[in-house]
Amino acid sequence: MRVIHRCSELRQHLARFDRPAFVPTMGNLHAGHLALVHRARPLGEVTVASIFVNRLQFLPHEDFDSYPRTFESDCAQLEAAGCDVLFAPTEAELYPQPQRFKLLPPPELADILEGQFRPGFFTGVCTVVLKLFALVFGQSKGGGHAVFGQKDYQQWLVLRQMAQQLALPVTLHASPTERAPDGLALSSRNAYLSPAERAEAVQLNLALRRLAAAVAAAVADGATDLAALEQQATAQLNERGWQTDYLTVRRRSDLQAPQGADLAGAASAGQLVALGAARLGRTRLIDNWEF
Ligand code: PAF
Repeated sequence: MRVIHRCSELRQHLARFDRPAFVPTMGNLHAGHLALVHRARPLGEVTVASIFVNRLQFLPHEDFDSYPRTFESDCAQLEAAGCDVLFAPTEAELYPQPQRFKLLPPPELADILEGQFRPGFFTGVCTVVLKLFALVFGQSKGGGHAVFGQKDYQQWLVLRQMAQQLALPVTLHASPTERAPDGLALSSRNAYLSPAERAEAVQLNLALRRLAAAVAAAVADGATDLAALEQQATAQLNERGWQTDYLTVRRRSDLQAPQGADLAGAASAGQLVALGAARLGRTRLIDNWEF
């Protein structure tokens, strides 16, 4: 695996390949990231991963400084997974001047859920991903492919819409969430959990699955309003010591709350997703469950 730190070297190296397959990451890799690399490998002529902890997508009180940085072990894992190129720029390399040009994703998709609790998050994500796409795919004749994890459900929808609306020469792929044997979604932030919190952490996934089952049953009985079920699920999780930002059921296609006949139609077509974000101690976890 070739490790590249400079943008110019990345461009020069990738110029000889027609269709890169790209996995952007912030490092601290786990089996979820490696599944993305495995998904990417057959898609392109060369498999590229990036590691860059992107300051633009962190709020001032968030964990940018303490975000786990595990470069040596990340390199070993990527190499073993068959990644060909690792792009790991410094901040000064990727943002040589303050990044004043930024992308403004549509508020109806980007200012809800994660965007409501982490204002500006998707602007930061879209801006860095567009810049990484420009570096990785800028010299490729046939466009390319990029793979993202479905754990970050809203991020995936925002980036897919960005690629469509900006006519980027990149096909985006979603890879299913990798889970620990107890069902906890793999996440770099799981590293912050104490042993007791780790044992409790699966409750977020269980709450989403219970909410999905309760909504499916209620809709089958003719219910048209999900607010009471969402509030009940939130109260149950909070009683266990969590601080819940949201536990909600949305349409998969656009993350809007379905109402009335639309809700019944989406439920019977299996087009709903339960999404949740909640804090356990100092760790904020997200997860989702399609049904
Ligand atoms: O999902 C992530 O790890 C990050 O949001 C991404 C896509 C690498 C952008 O920094």
